Amino acid sequence: MATTPETPQVYSPSAEFVAAANMKGHAEVARQAELDLPGFWGARAAEFEWFKPWDNVLDESNKPFYKWFVGGKVNIVYNCLDRHIKTWRRNKLALIWEGEKGEVRTFSYHALNREVCKFANVLRSMGVKKGDRVTIYMGRVPELPMAMLACAKIGAVHSVVYGGFSVEALHGRIDDSQSHVVITCDGGYMNGKIVELKRIVDEALKRCATVENVVVVKRTGHEVPMESGRDFWYHDLLNLPMARASTSETEVMDAEDPLYLLYTSGTTGKPKAILHTHGGYMVGVATTLKWVFDVKEEDRWWCTADPGWVTGHSYLVYGPLLLGATSFMYEGAPTFPYPNRWWSMIEKYGITLLYTAPTAIRGLMRFGEAWPNRHDLSSLRLLGSVGEPINPEAWRWYHRVIGKERCPIMDTWWQTETGMFAITPLPTMDLKPGSAARPFPGMEADVYTEAGTSAAVGEEGFLVLKRPWPAMLRTLYKDPQRYQDQYWSKYPGVYFTGDSARKDADGYFWIIGRVDDVIKVSGYRLGTAEIESALVSHPAVAEAAAIGLPHEVKGSAIYTYVMLRTNYEPSEALAEELKAHVGHEVGPIAKPEKVSFVPSLPKTRSGKIMRRVLKARAQGLPEGDLSTLEE
Ligand code: WT7
Repeated sequence: MATTPETPQVYSPSAEFVAAANMKGHAEVARQAELDLPGFWGARAAEFEWFKPWDNVLDESNKPFYKWFVGGKVNIVYNCLDRHIKTWRRNKLALIWEGEKGEVRTFSYHALNREVCKFANVLRSMGVKKGDRVTIYMGRVPELPMAMLACAKIGAVHSVVYGGFSVEALHGRIDDSQSHVVITCDGGYMNGKIVELKRIVDEALKRCATVENVVVVKRTGHEVPMESGRDFWYHDLLNLPMARASTSETEVMDAEDPLYLLYTSGTTGKPKAILHTHGGYMVGVATTLKWVFDVKEEDRWWCTADPGWVTGHSYLVYGPLLLGATSFMYEGAPTFPYPNRWWSMIEKYGITLLYTAPTAIRGLMRFGEAWPNRHDLSSLRLLGSVGEPINPEAWRWYHRVIGKERCPIMDTWWQTETGMFAITPLPTMDLKPGSAARPFPGMEADVYTEAGTSAAVGEEGFLVLKRPWPAMLRTLYKDPQRYQDQYWSKYPGVYFTGDSARKDADGYFWIIGRVDDVIKVSGYRLGTAEIESALVSHPAVAEAAAIGLPHEVKGSAIYTYVMLRTNYEPSEALAEELKAHVGHEVGPIAKPEKVSFVPSLPKTRSGKIMRRVLKARAQGLPEGDLSTLEE
């Protein structure tokens, strides 16, 4: 195996691991999938229960609007819950939850199904119908997955907004989806403090008109205003006669019917709503989780992501339930009250599979090895990473200190758009720290030059995907044109990821990072446009630009450049005020690291801010081609 100078070592899985793996002979499986893509995915789909089988696995007649399992009738929730409660799994734990303060709640498949049925009945009685959008804005409590499942069960389309977003981000997403119902909590616990979820909803709703009802889960119990006739407590609704029936019909959906919207930041303008469907998403997510994380009946799976992001949708909520697995979910901060919180819970619950983000690993690494070393981590057998490139140093620490050099690390590359792992190791493969290895069977990836030819080995270029896959986004909600322009027009017929990458001599992919105006802060995806529009909504700001610069723990941090209106003077106090303003409008994760006041911004003659020039200047790098610069 070829190595690169930064990565002298290749890690091979143990023979025992390979012998016991869910998926063996990956090279042969990938070859078969390449030869017969519909046959490959059809066989995976056959592992689920369909109300009516599909006529056609893949319909490519209207590219890039691919359709999967055409004619099939299915509901992902039927396969997450209804299917299991007919078997011994009804008594298996589906979910173990620990609150930040240490409370524990557990749900068997039977119990989870019962809760979901009751809430589905409530939503139906509130008039929520198939195809209606419902916004979910909650902390990490069991009612969050329950709300998602209840929506999907009745055919409603959920739109989960991350609980760390704030007023303007929430308002924009509710408004765009035209939700009539919002599900939230009175508050959430994070780092020992209360996040004012309900108050943020109230403020957002002052700016939008569609919402008729707000359902509020009582989590903190602190005082929050409830608007009579609009706001209802979740526990009150669940006690009503219409909810009490603990069964509820699961809606028969078309395989291509929408399952959810998830807003994500794009190149410019407002966040776009990625649309995923019931059938293909189900098949893609379950297959990738089963093979990449080797999930077995007796495993305890912990995906540390928040359900507000795609990782939580695919691999905290839907994926593990589809496999009938036991998941662990934790409400709060990794270092609360001490930096051993995660390690103590791995020991306490006997977690076997851990899936987290490089930023979390780097953050916990800083506290030293003594914290994890106080705990018995021997239950772990496989680890995972997602969200941004994992630097080899963090990879090795994770491997040595957490995995005790026994657990392979799955560095999974994917996106909100792909819905499922696209480039990823399989646990039976050789691993190179910092590389996401190869495309998943059935996927075809390449690195392209600007001209659209394959880049040479080791040459940096644009990462593209060349064949459709079942969990792919189907469109951007209400904006099919933008779907085509954004993803399928740079290289016609080829999916453009927005990332740059290199391929090595073994065909391993090394992801470098975004090539557009997306900034990954602690693995969270933010758009420069959202941060800039929050800044210019402040009365002192005339114009603003945001860029991401490298940060040791967060991966990237946000730096902003602000031109003030006349009558405003630069000051430290104003810089702090602007940071707080962005935090209030978008959310704490979007707070700039730095606000610099500048007399002008580098722009093209057509008035576009040249962020790459700002970036180069900030890093003392050459500014590149300035021929289009106006200034
Ligand atoms: C972007 C997508 C997919 C779940 C969470 C993020 C970056 C993601 C990796 C990885 C290097 C990665 C890419 C991608 N990314 N995983 N393993 N190695 N980069 O989803 O918020 O849609 O962000 O995250 O830049 O395009 P997302």
